[in-house]
Amino acid sequence: MAESMKGLKRTHRCGELSVQNVGESVTVMGWVQKQRNKGGIIFVDLRDRSGILQVIFEESDCGPEHFAKAEKLRSEFVVAVTGKVTKREGAVNENLATGEIEVRADQVRVLSEAETPPFPIEADSKTKEELRLKYRYLDLRRPDLQRNLMLRSRMTTAIRAFLSDEGFLEIETPILNKSTPEGARDYLVPSRIHPGTFYALPQSPQIFKQLLMCSGYDRYFQIAKCFRDEDLRADRQPEFTQVDLEMSFVDVDDVIDATERMVAKVCREAVGLEVPLPISRMTWDEAMNRFGSDKPDTRFGMELVEVSDVVKGCGFGVFTGALEAGGSVRGINVKGQAEMPRKKIDALVEFARGYGAKGLAYLSVMPDGSFKSSFAKFMTEDELKALAGAMGGEPGDLLLFAADRLKIVYSVLGALRCELARQLGLIDENHYNFLWVTEFPQFEWSDEEERFVAMHHPFTMPMEEDLELLESDPGRVRAKAYDIVLNGVELGGGSVRIFQSDVQERMFRALGFTEEKAHEQFGFLLDAFTYGVPPHAGLAIGLDRFVMLLVKAESIREVIAFPKVKDASCLMSEAPNVVDEKQLEELHLSITE
Ligand code: AMO
Ligand code: AMP
Repeated sequence: MAESMKGLKRTHRCGELSVQNVGESVTVMGWVQKQRNKGGIIFVDLRDRSGILQVIFEESDCGPEHFAKAEKLRSEFVVAVTGKVTKREGAVNENLATGEIEVRADQVRVLSEAETPPFPIEADSKTKEELRLKYRYLDLRRPDLQRNLMLRSRMTTAIRAFLSDEGFLEIETPILNKSTPEGARDYLVPSRIHPGTFYALPQSPQIFKQLLMCSGYDRYFQIAKCFRDEDLRADRQPEFTQVDLEMSFVDVDDVIDATERMVAKVCREAVGLEVPLPISRMTWDEAMNRFGSDKPDTRFGMELVEVSDVVKGCGFGVFTGALEAGGSVRGINVKGQAEMPRKKIDALVEFARGYGAKGLAYLSVMPDGSFKSSFAKFMTEDELKALAGAMGGEPGDLLLFAADRLKIVYSVLGALRCELARQLGLIDENHYNFLWVTEFPQFEWSDEEERFVAMHHPFTMPMEEDLELLESDPGRVRAKAYDIVLNGVELGGGSVRIFQSDVQERMFRALGFTEEKAHEQFGFLLDAFTYGVPPHAGLAIGLDRFVMLLVKAESIREVIAFPKVKDASCLMSEAPNVVDEKQLEELHLSITE
């Protein structure tokens, strides 16, 4: 039977008590982690979000009525305990922050009883994630998730404090918007009042924050919910949170400077991590050339080496064929792995195929200096030597090569070096490597749509010196766009925006928009630009990813209170679900299948 807490007031959280409180009478409230009855003495571990406290019941302290209640306590009962803080009589528990003390109870109230939970409430849970997510409200009691969400809250507090000190205003933007087809797929909300029409949930507050700059708010930020109907991965959710900001009368360096000081402050205040400033920068070209990725993990080497010139005239058709088709041959040197078993190499080839490779060629420089290779028979000894030399291959090294269109070579080798570093334990998990990647290409060719699409978004300003290429050679135009990368993960990105209507119209044309279509989609923005617009720039950080990396979580789901799973459903609430016929009717919808 549940008792009330009438007349009782909590004096401390469990984890706040220490030897400093010895002798005090305290009232604590929380969940029973564990009850052990040792005959005349009952030990109860009491848990709240601050930690665990040992409570001791002896009949001589608390009398028979309360002792009897303590005997009936089970895991996850919610109780209030009043008692005296004493030094531990038994051994000190080094694993508990409160390990030097205990509370000798003089009374207990059972505020709520509990069924046996479907899995133990404990750190480092071995429970299957599906079960944890079905009972997320229990999962959220576990200390790892509590730590993650408390850290997340500390981070948003630090972000708000920093941005507010820097003159940023926190302004909310709408969730019910107009659909704009550029970017990811929209989540749509049918309108009841306007039959056959839909709102779209925001993929980001991009257009609104630019309008706020037009309206003179100068510096804006928002901790903004964004929605994208994309395929999910470990670091992607259909709804996620951005730390979104925009600044007026600034250029690239101003946004980078404000952002990195914010990131440094958050790291310091949330996890005591000192981020040396300024964060180093690398152009997109350099990142791709050296690491095969626009979000390189720079905690280890194994950089890409171009060997196209070295293999140009060789007898290996895979290499020469790729070159003749306008492609490239590049490799990575996996130090000390010349004798990697064939089975493991085959697994790497399969891995490479997953990234579009037709195959993966290998050359082992054996400890005695001889070569073992999938293509040795197509090359002379001198050609093999020259190739190994170009790769810095020493006895004991394994050299892996991809020959293909440059885009595929990058994606294959970029992924392969990360996979190998993981397999070979080359990554120092305590290292945080921040990096700015700058000068992104303005456009990306879409094979699917057979046109250039914006790499960032259509409002991104090209670099001044490349403006003249907008019509003649769009593939070579670089943008004033930048990403902040942490340990190989894209943490955030942004750009300087186009603020001149004529440049914006040229941009839309380059993207294949007709004038009518551009005005239909973005007319209000283009109109706003005709009434006086300040030069402006901004960026958004993926908050969930930032928290995930700082707590070293494997998945973004570990830092979101109520996340969705791979198929975008919620295992607890079972959203999305079917709705009443009547609701559909009101929305003028009918289901076709
Ligand atoms: P962008 O699309 O690069 O930029 O998004 C910014 C950051 O948001 C995070 N992010 C995600 N996090 C979790 N799940 C997702 N599905 C997801 N998608 C993106 C990433 C990413 O770096 N409006 C621009 C910003 C600007 O130009 O100011 C924008 O949205 O960490
Ligand atoms: P094949 O002649 O197709 O049997 O390939 C010979 C070797 O080259 C095998 O080890 C293949 O995995 C490898 N290979 C095939 N295509 C490529 C490619 N595009 N890039 C690198 N290696 C390749």
